[in-house]
Amino acid sequence: MAIKIIREIKTINNTVSDLKKQGKRIGFVPTMGALHKGHISLVENSKKENDITVVSIFVNPTQFNNKTDLKKYPRNEKQDTRMLENAGCDYVFAPSVNEMYPKNETQKTFDFGQLATVMEGKHRPGHFDGVGQIVYKLFKAVCPDNAYFGIKDFQQLAIINYMVKNYMPDSGIKITGCDIVREADGLAMSSRNERLSENQRKSAGMINQIMKKYHSQASNNDIEKIKSSIIYEINEIDHLKVEYYDIVNNETLQPTEKADSNARGCIAVFCDDVRLIDNMPFS
Ligand code: PAJ
Repeated sequence: MAIKIIREIKTINNTVSDLKKQGKRIGFVPTMGALHKGHISLVENSKKENDITVVSIFVNPTQFNNKTDLKKYPRNEKQDTRMLENAGCDYVFAPSVNEMYPKNETQKTFDFGQLATVMEGKHRPGHFDGVGQIVYKLFKAVCPDNAYFGIKDFQQLAIINYMVKNYMPDSGIKITGCDIVREADGLAMSSRNERLSENQRKSAGMINQIMKKYHSQASNNDIEKIKSSIIYEINEIDHLKVEYYDIVNNETLQPTEKADSNARGCIAVFCDDVRLIDNMPFS
């Protein structure tokens, strides 16, 4: 079946409703487009566990706290659609901004508690309100059985789990977190990598390599030493400036005292004006 592009909430809602009546299980992958192998891995996970896979492409303005970042966010729907068709995705939901945010509509507000006060929530004020708003609307529109998110956005995954549990407990949507897909040098794949020059791209590859070095010897070092070494070494590389590197509890996302299997190191780095994030467990 050729891939179908749907632009209206009503149409995707009716389409999925009909498919569910036929007993089909629906998997959903929300994205902002500029797709890469990381996104496609979510589609593959969905295809394994569902009869029908829906991918949304929507660059959500309310989650960008930086206007230039929104303006420069890569957009390429034709290429995205081709990639999705090759991956065996069934439906693309690609609405307009007006469709998702009609004028004069009051937006739902969320309280994500402590999950949203650290890391991305602290450095990108309002970001998770925007993510919550759009994912809530997308879930209501698509009504999937399963939804797939990347562990690359570790805090986002925790927020979405919290949102489904607390704000849509009857939805029945099951959230699955999928592994981070990386480039050969370890850089986490990201739509924003497209914006890097050759030299910036080389530097960006060091983020993961430096984290890996200190994460693998974590048991020999105290937590403050790990943090300061990672930040220092990354800041020594051309183009790179660490915004934060925190070691947090996997569940609460609060800073933890021990770099053990309950903890994760999460980082945000500016590669000149391109902001990159990554994270890594401790063994
Ligand atoms: P976007 O950045 O397009 O990412 C869409 C999904 O792909 C997210 O769940 C993200 O974690 C996952 N992803 C991105 N890079 C990945 C990688 N290298 N490996 C594995 N998964 C990866 O995240 C968003 O969009 C938006 O915030 C969204 C949830 C769509 C709401 O607007």
